[in-house]
Amino acid sequence: MPGTRGAVPVPMQANGTSDLTLDILSTLDTQQPIHTAEAFPHASQAEIKAALDRLASRSMVEYETNDSEQVILTEEGQQICDEGSHEWKVWEAVKSKGRIPIKDLEKIVGPSAKVGQGNAFKLKWVKKDGDALTPVAKEVTDTTRQLLQHVNEHNTFPDPKQLKDYQKRKLVTTRKVITYSVRKGPRWALEIPQEVTDLNVDMLQDGSWETANFKPYNFNALGEPQNAGALHPLNKVREEFRKIFFSQDFIEMPTARYVDSGFWNFDTLFVPQQHPARDMQDTFYVSDPPEAGPPGPDPVADKALDEMEADSQMYRDSESADTSKLDYSQYYKNVKAVHQDGAFGSIGYRYPYSDAETQKLVLRTHTTAVSAYCLHRLATNPRPARYFSIDRVFRNESVDATHLAEFHQIEGVIADYGLTLGGLMDFLGKFFTKLGISNLRFKPAYNPYTEPSMEVFGYHHGLGKWVEIGNSGMFRPEMLLAMGLPDDLRCYGFGLSLERPTMIKYGVSNIRELLGHKVDLGFIESNAAVRLDKD
Ligand code: PHE
Repeated sequence: MPGTRGAVPVPMQANGTSDLTLDILSTLDTQQPIHTAEAFPHASQAEIKAALDRLASRSMVEYETNDSEQVILTEEGQQICDEGSHEWKVWEAVKSKGRIPIKDLEKIVGPSAKVGQGNAFKLKWVKKDGDALTPVAKEVTDTTRQLLQHVNEHNTFPDPKQLKDYQKRKLVTTRKVITYSVRKGPRWALEIPQEVTDLNVDMLQDGSWETANFKPYNFNALGEPQNAGALHPLNKVREEFRKIFFSQDFIEMPTARYVDSGFWNFDTLFVPQQHPARDMQDTFYVSDPPEAGPPGPDPVADKALDEMEADSQMYRDSESADTSKLDYSQYYKNVKAVHQDGAFGSIGYRYPYSDAETQKLVLRTHTTAVSAYCLHRLATNPRPARYFSIDRVFRNESVDATHLAEFHQIEGVIADYGLTLGGLMDFLGKFFTKLGISNLRFKPAYNPYTEPSMEVFGYHHGLGKWVEIGNSGMFRPEMLLAMGLPDDLRCYGFGLSLERPTMIKYGVSNIRELLGHKVDLGFIESNAAVRLDKD
């Protein structure tokens, strides 16, 4: 019948005849309290606990948990319990034969002969007659066996004074067990009454609700394990980085545009149009739509930046950017001039600039494309600014244990007056300390858009070794001036992959175990939360 349930089925004990829950109830009928180790020595602790909880939740019993010690038989103790003590075996043999030559004793009673003989003498059960043994006692009580039989049944030792002695003789040992002392509860009965689990219309109408025995809620039940979602390790590490950036007044750049134009991804950053990185081998080009159109404002990105700036400590008091002032066609001309003829103090690359190249659509190869967009926007209201992004980039690389054709880039950009290279090194030093990496080392490097440029290495305390962290530099003046930023506003930039610190953190040596179709979902679901500054 729906809404009611009878006695809850309980797993039968090994002998299949009794139900522990009911046994507990009936034992309580005659004695109180009961100690489960003595009353139910053969039931497992888990079984007892389950039965007690079942009863306690219905107020049928009350119980306390005690840690106690149980006495159990060793193998030799068990043998004595089953067959009799060594001395008893000797006495038994001597008595039945009437006389046994000492040299034959071992043949007859086996390994018990030696110890048994000595004990049987002491107990005056047998005596020596020449070189043979003869019986003394007509009847004996094998107290050793009786004691061990008691231990076997009750897991307790009747005489605590003798316990040490039996332990020394290696007949018994002790083990820690959890036992319960159980008393009747206010609703004790010999059987579990039928319980009502739902109140329904019928019960209200026929009045049976008044006397019904409602099953109490079990607030201690753990409930079904939920198959809930889990954050991917990359997302966990990403969140850690975001927190570190936010705590230092950085604003998150809108990076939803995976497909960008050659102009933003390369030209604004003075990657020469013949640069090998633009080659089909390194860059994924998009064929449909065939071209990007001229550079212009991205209203979605502008709106997101406006909102974030309004929320930020650093920008709240300054005027918001008036993006309508931005002249994208002038910016385009400036970029072209630097490439082709030289401008803003740069001698340029001096090659014929291809407009078609700027309009090619690419899967962005770095998030610096977005940084360029944000720095150009900063020219409407130039002032100190801090931007960061963590998002996906794509490179047409051959896939191996540490490279995929797509990965995530972490990028930071800081614009301010009077910035120096020493300041960038100092900033990076402090930034990476928060990630548990110190003693940064810098190696000169080359990026078309930064000068000087530095590769960054650091000592990872968790791993105990030097690791390559990323790439950094100061954006070139001809890049910033072409955007319309004032000439005393300098700009740091740095970038690193999100995968690398994640692989280090989670001890993953093959990137394909982290991202892609080979990922083990169990790994995603079970890995721990992350603190980058802890090992
Ligand atoms: N774009 C660089 C890279 O892909 C990172 C970088 C960003 C370097 C900004 C300098 C300044 O590795």
